[in-house]
Amino acid sequence: MCGIVGAVAQRNVQGILLEGLKRLEYRGYDSAGMTVMHQGALTRHRAVGKVAALDARVAEKSLPGVIGIAHTRWATHGKPSEANAHPHHSTDRVAVVHNGIIENHERTKARLQAAGHVFTSETDTEVIAHLLNDALDDASDERGALFAAVQHIVNDLGGAYALGVMSVSEPDVVIGARQGSPLVVGVGIDEAFLASDPLALLPVTDRFIYLEEGDVVELRDGGHIRIVNRVGQPVERPIHVFEHGDGAASKGEYRHFMLKEIYEQPAVISAALEGRLSDTGVLVESFGPEAATLFARTRQIHIIACGTSYHAGLVARYWLERYAGVPVQVEVASEYRYRHPVVPEDTLFVTLSQSGETADTLAALRYAKTLGYIGALGICNVPGSSLVRESDLTLMTRAGPEIGVASTKAFTTQLIALMLFTLALAKSRSDAPLDAGEQGEIVQALKALAPICQQVLALNDEIEVLSQAFAEKHHALFLGRGAHFPIALEGALKLKEISYIHAEAYPAGELKHGPLALVDSEMPVISVAPNDDLLEKLKSNLQEVRARGGQLFVFADKNVGIHAHDDTQVLHLPHIHEALAPLLYTLPLQLLSYHVAVLKGTDVDQPRNLAKSVTVE
Ligand code: AGP
Repeated sequence: MCGIVGAVAQRNVQGILLEGLKRLEYRGYDSAGMTVMHQGALTRHRAVGKVAALDARVAEKSLPGVIGIAHTRWATHGKPSEANAHPHHSTDRVAVVHNGIIENHERTKARLQAAGHVFTSETDTEVIAHLLNDALDDASDERGALFAAVQHIVNDLGGAYALGVMSVSEPDVVIGARQGSPLVVGVGIDEAFLASDPLALLPVTDRFIYLEEGDVVELRDGGHIRIVNRVGQPVERPIHVFEHGDGAASKGEYRHFMLKEIYEQPAVISAALEGRLSDTGVLVESFGPEAATLFARTRQIHIIACGTSYHAGLVARYWLERYAGVPVQVEVASEYRYRHPVVPEDTLFVTLSQSGETADTLAALRYAKTLGYIGALGICNVPGSSLVRESDLTLMTRAGPEIGVASTKAFTTQLIALMLFTLALAKSRSDAPLDAGEQGEIVQALKALAPICQQVLALNDEIEVLSQAFAEKHHALFLGRGAHFPIALEGALKLKEISYIHAEAYPAGELKHGPLALVDSEMPVISVAPNDDLLEKLKSNLQEVRARGGQLFVFADKNVGIHAHDDTQVLHLPHIHEALAPLLYTLPLQLLSYHVAVLKGTDVDQPRNLAKSVTVE
């Protein structure tokens, strides 16, 4: 994780770097720092905590300069402290910011220490600064020496990195490099920038070059940009215009990004469907020209993802088996990548990721490519991300930038994409259980979904009242059945990550096999109860909870006859086609966790110990 920014500008870059870091805080917020070339010297500010602390340091003692690099950290090697904050310097000659992990740093550090280098941090990054210092010793004084030095030393780095580098040896240059961690170049007017995410640079440009794995880039005074690939050949990379606008970077009228993103769901659900449906079915070409052939061949599916994206994959398993008749396995990437999966003939590999940069998911994709799958479909929210570039077929979820660490609109748009995938697969296979009539019904239900979501969001005030019952709780249980068990998992994850309340999710039928022992009058039990085949079974499970004195909170279809009692609070949701109920029942659970977190006074958008984009193992 971590976020990096760099600038070679015609003006003081301190404000640009600070604004960039604030926009990257979702990637980590343990400490922050910047180095600026001030009167020919590397001048550094660092502070523990959020970027606001760095901002205050810079305000106390401004040292302006027209080139600089900056970093916001999510600690991996070494605790959050000023000494461990980036940029890391080697003597007064080299400064480095780094996102990723240098896996061979211990051996390299021992070698550098033996050669006389003094380390001042516990980080893996500091080796890069000293390696560069040595490489500059061996270089000529010609222009381009720093560029060459970075190209040389990256050969010694194992693991993952996105780098920003400066040196007094060439005071008008910033060098960037990427391998395994994202890095974009912002193209300005006679200026050039670097960042982990285009969002960081939207106040200064909307034109971006997405660097490829192994690329090294030189940004020079006047906005000159030079890129070489992993074997040192000069390359031209296309410039993309950022199309989402800059609205995503502000909270607008909302108190938190998370709330804004929850409320954006009707709009982004519509965006995710746009141009992908006819009146009767999904347009299979939305997945790419080869999709129809590949889907017709598909006999099995393996879905790999992490966290919330994994929960979306679990929902899709129910859909793909029920409607497309294809067997599905779903697994978290961090386990899959270290197994020896047996891949049956004609199996399609599917990854899900909001960011497209999650290290475990990318490693799983790369591993899968060696295992004989017929192809890899990537369902992703970030255009140009590694996952998109490395997949054979892609479907963009079109949620727009998601800033809150807790995933909300990214999840529901993943579900839309997965329903489109289910319909496309069913359409491409002659033996799918879904007939044309049912396909048409689901398509119509998808088209009607956004306004129904709006109705559920209108329950916000009632959900806020419910949330008061959770503020003093330490534990909670979430229940669901069938495709709503993953929704219960997602509800529990939301509550855990932003309110720090311990929450677990169970398929409601599993409660009697152990977890029922936890239920007493102090245990809130949250359940979703759509009108589906499993409703009567679920009602019996809820009775089991009531009989043990549990406090029930049920989000139920208005037609299913579940009503409030002394020990049961019920919020009724509009009726929805059974296939789309998982999408709708996600919304009240998001709002519930949000309000509990607000009541508890936690940092909703940047919960402790977490980061949005997990680009380390
Ligand atoms: C959920 O709220 C988290 N942000 C987290 O579980 C996230 O879904 C996970 O890290 C995967 O991220 P990705 O979708 O960007 O790959």
